[in-house]
Amino acid sequence: MKKAGIYIHIPFCTVKCIYCDFYSITEREDSIQRFINAITREIEMCNSDVSEWTFDTIFIGGGTPSLLNGGKIEKIISALYKKFDLSNLVEFTIEVNPGEAPTEHLKLYKDYGINRLSIGVQSLQPRLLKFLTRIHDRKEVFQTFNNARDIGYDNINIDLIHSIPGQTLKLWKSDLEEIIRLNPEHISAYSLTVEKGTELFGMVKKKIVLMPKEEINAKFFENTIDRLTSNSYSLYEISNFSKPGLQCKHNMHYWNIEPYLGFGPSAHSFDSNYRWNNTKNLDSYLQGIESNRPIKSNVELLSKTNIINETIGFGLRMSSGIALNKLPKEYRKRFENRLLSANQKFKNCLKKKNQRVSLSNKGFLFADEIIVDLLF
Ligand SMILES: C[S@@+](CC[C@H](N)C(=O)[O-])C[C@H]1O[C@@H](n2cnc3c(N)ncnc32)[C@H](O)[C@@H]1O
Ligand code: SF4
Repeated sequence: MKKAGIYIHIPFCTVKCIYCDFYSITEREDSIQRFINAITREIEMCNSDVSEWTFDTIFIGGGTPSLLNGGKIEKIISALYKKFDLSNLVEFTIEVNPGEAPTEHLKLYKDYGINRLSIGVQSLQPRLLKFLTRIHDRKEVFQTFNNARDIGYDNINIDLIHSIPGQTLKLWKSDLEEIIRLNPEHISAYSLTVEKGTELFGMVKKKIVLMPKEEINAKFFENTIDRLTSNSYSLYEISNFSKPGLQCKHNMHYWNIEPYLGFGPSAHSFDSNYRWNNTKNLDSYLQGIESNRPIKSNVELLSKTNIINETIGFGLRMSSGIALNKLPKEYRKRFENRLLSANQKFKNCLKKKNQRVSLSNKGFLFADEIIVDLLF
């Protein structure tokens, strides 16, 4: 049996943040009930062969899932329980935005079996939150977190962003210290990326906004590792830190190239052979489901080389790296040759121990360049 995950995409948001490339839309509250009907139908109609899989994680992401009340989330969860064997579920996450996760919602989510929250804090600095066009303030961060603890959530992630224009190392360190004091089980610390099609992309292109240079980004990364690892968090993936044993099991499915099914507009799926995603448009998603038309797009059969490249690409982003015996024999020798040249080019960036290859902390800084050199 292969371990597998389920992803549910809720596309609704109150505002569209300037940097966000995820499929999320505003002013569509009137379509929420229709969306719930459509996604439950999509789950019922799923015809992927899951007979060899054991689902152990569910992740409800977005968008802003915490805008949905308990009843709506329950409808989706019931559809999942009716369709799949979820008796081996160990991790069930929902993303919540500070200030947009009422107590009644959080209580009911817990009653329905959700045991992990991921809170999109991003920053604790009023000026930076404003720049990012976030609508919450720092007070709401602490309220949402403490509220979640009072309700009994004992597995909480906090998402943070660094390398924001105008952010100094001092401000970042102060955010990290305050978050460490809250003692969440998991912290995701992302570097702000400028994604094509976002408002931020336009601002950078027109030079209205200047992004921090690579050396500055490296300083933020080094500081993050230093502060978090000296406070009992370990870096297990390039942007992810956790307390012992509390890594995000759902994301590990993606990084270990294990199967997952995605439901909702834009959701991605992988069944060990094919990758695909659902249409990235709420109206075509709703119309497609309601009239039994396909909503899948970009269906891609992965070749052996694609799978090996993904094993290398995702594997090297994790601290545990890649087990060389995972690579088929005919690729292994060539891969080891490439490692030799990469070692010359990127000094002190790659480590090899017990037949596993991984990136050092310095290597993580150059991960993209190193990985490109190693792919087939
Ligand atoms: C798509 S959001 C959804 C969660 C929730 N709506 C929120 O905004 O907090 C998931 C996470 O991705 C990260 N993220 C999204 N866009 C990003 C970007 N351009 N650069 C860095 N991190 C980003 C943020 O940390 C965010 O919490
Ligand atoms: S970052 Fe989160 S809240 Fe902002 S638009 Fe994207 S999904 Fe919505």
